[in-house]
Amino acid sequence: MMNQVFGLSPSTELNSPVINKRNQAPAKILIVDDRPYSRMPARDLLLFEGYEVKEVGGDSSVFEWVVNHKPDLVLLDVVLSEVDGFEICKLLKQDYRTSQIPIILAAVADNREYRRKVREVDGDDFLTKPFDRFQLSTRVKSLIEQKRLKEGVEQVLVDIAKVMESRSSDSGSSSTRVASLARSFGEYLKISPQAIANLVFAAHVHDIGEVAIPDAVLLKKGELTNEERELIRQHVLIGEKLCQPLDNRQGVLPIIRHHHERWDGSGYPDGLAGNRIPQLAQIFQILDIYTALTSERPHKQAYTPTQALEIIAEETNKGWRNPEVVEQFTAFIRATEEKKQLQGIAQI
Ligand SMILES: [Fe+2]
Repeated sequence: MMNQVFGLSPSTELNSPVINKRNQAPAKILIVDDRPYSRMPARDLLLFEGYEVKEVGGDSSVFEWVVNHKPDLVLLDVVLSEVDGFEICKLLKQDYRTSQIPIILAAVADNREYRRKVREVDGDDFLTKPFDRFQLSTRVKSLIEQKRLKEGVEQVLVDIAKVMESRSSDSGSSSTRVASLARSFGEYLKISPQAIANLVFAAHVHDIGEVAIPDAVLLKKGELTNEERELIRQHVLIGEKLCQPLDNRQGVLPIIRHHHERWDGSGYPDGLAGNRIPQLAQIFQILDIYTALTSERPHKQAYTPTQALEIIAEETNKGWRNPEVVEQFTAFIRATEEKKQLQGIAQI
């Protein structure tokens, strides 16, 4: 029965759906339109093509729905009774949790004003209704493929970074621990969700540039020569370059490039001093150092939080860290440790 939708037979090829490649689940598409009968043609076509299709009316809950369910694409009518489709698109594109979800805006009328607004709110495409089946099918497939390709590239980079981390087991710190600390310290500082997301992603990929450093240098036990030291320093530039194509992760690039700068300008690669060092890089390096100090390594025991804070304080006295950020971090760790102790007492 399904095959008879739009008079299609199984041999009728519009586009092969973006499903089950590499065992992926069918792409999930959300159709937003006030009128159920108006949603029907697109719904039937997309179901026929093998997508998972969800439908919602055009009320103020659309934004929350998208945040919570993360569809792979939104087909959004611009004229809705309670909210403006363009406004919803704008909100979704501005929010880091949903900005990468492709949005096709749709309207009965086609005019220059609509097309201008689509560009203004960063919509990915605009289609007029009633939909041309081939056009809808092609645009949906292409946008979902692009999205999955980007996600694939991002995952490959994270996987490479993980391999790098296990390769140099006594350098750097556990990315998962840094990511978790980034989340809680970011919330403590009340920085934006986007900034927290950048810190978390940086936790996984900040040293990915080490992939280009030979083992003989990266894992050398003895003292490094100047040339070898210079080679290792290149990892921040290589890492920045590797992550450059991730257009939704541009905020991570300054963290990757500058996580070895020092407050007094004695760091690398650019010798930036003070607040010329990007703020997230200043925060990130403290998270990274603290995690490395409090982690057990083959050649050392884990430092206690107090010992680690003392070492960071020494580095701050030398002029390497931003004293203000270190003060906030110290207060955060002390509060966290006190809370843990109280919870421990409560459990006894
Ligand atoms: Fe590094």
